[in-house]
Amino acid sequence: MKKQVKNNVSWVGYIDWELEHFHGDDYSIMNGSSQNAYLIEEEKTVLVDTVWAPHRFEFVESLKKAVNLHKIDFIVMNHGEVDHSGALTALMEEIPGTPIYCTANAVNSIKGQYGDRGWDFHVVKTGDSLDVGNGKKLIFVEMKMLHWPDSMATYLTGDNILFSMDAFGQHFAVEEMFNDKANQCLLMKEAMKYYANILNPFSPLVTNKLKEIAGLGIQIDMIAPAHGAIWRDNPLQIVEKYGQWAAQYQENQVTIAYDTMWEGTTKLAHEIAREIARQSPDTVVKLFNIAKSDKNEVMTEVFKSKAIAVGSPTVSNDILSSVSGWLAFLKQLKFKNKKGAAFGCYGWSGESVKILKEKLKDAGFKVVEPEVRSQWNPAEEDFAKVPALVKALLE
Ligand code: FEO
Repeated sequence: MKKQVKNNVSWVGYIDWELEHFHGDDYSIMNGSSQNAYLIEEEKTVLVDTVWAPHRFEFVESLKKAVNLHKIDFIVMNHGEVDHSGALTALMEEIPGTPIYCTANAVNSIKGQYGDRGWDFHVVKTGDSLDVGNGKKLIFVEMKMLHWPDSMATYLTGDNILFSMDAFGQHFAVEEMFNDKANQCLLMKEAMKYYANILNPFSPLVTNKLKEIAGLGIQIDMIAPAHGAIWRDNPLQIVEKYGQWAAQYQENQVTIAYDTMWEGTTKLAHEIAREIARQSPDTVVKLFNIAKSDKNEVMTEVFKSKAIAVGSPTVSNDILSSVSGWLAFLKQLKFKNKKGAAFGCYGWSGESVKILKEKLKDAGFKVVEPEVRSQWNPAEEDFAKVPALVKALLE
């Protein structure tokens, strides 16, 4: 389906209402998603990106209704990941000689995934441009490691649209297409979840890239990402948010994440939550049983937090595998400037708290000394250790 974005620019992507997981099962989708592709019809006709491979035939059929495929002069591939390049194979069967503009790394990633099919790649770098006629041109900006080595953004002069690829996107199905028409709470929640779970490890690069884009002195009237809503109402609001999110973002929040075997560690977790409220009534507390909670949602709460407390009982001289896996993901996300505390129950050997502290430190957290380590079920003397742990987290 072709929907007008602005003047001669249209959306020709795919809204994935039923998507539940992304990156395999590594990212949960709660509110649908979209793979946004765009068609520019000036003197030259340009397709910007395609859609995920399972939708490739539907995409090509839909695109045929939008435009005579043989009129497409260029394809711009801002990124080689399969959710955007996945329809290239079907499309290039129809128009095999069409030039594809992308970064050198995208040539590698596209050939790496689909094989060398003899496509006519044209490598571009930051500052390179492509005339599309009617006084307008495309200017390319490499976005290396945001979030793949091959990523780039493309800016259309005249209409002042930044096709930003994954950056500024959200896994959020918005049939109405624009940010001002989307549910505002969900829009910002999904934008933050996307940042926290996908872009946070690259925050220093985000900071530098935002400075570089600001230095270009270009006017941005619209930001058209590759997922979710297009930012047309105050589009720079999401750029401002990215600036904050990339700067070791935190709110006055503490997140408690734990798993339990026989509810002893649960009791400690709940007492920590109550104690935070006692010591600091304005601090937002979030509490999750890791085994029963969506990890991407929990990580979004960790992203917002200034401190976390992680709990596990001791099992086989170690921590529960649910907590171990969760901590591995925590480390990947490279959070900075956050405190961490550990707690847990044990029956005999009792290594869990020590292991939790080591893993939190390894994940880049500033681990506080006070801990709550409770043999068998937590008793009064164990609960009595909670205020010191909380005080250290809140200080
Ligand atoms: Fe939406 Fe990195 O692909």
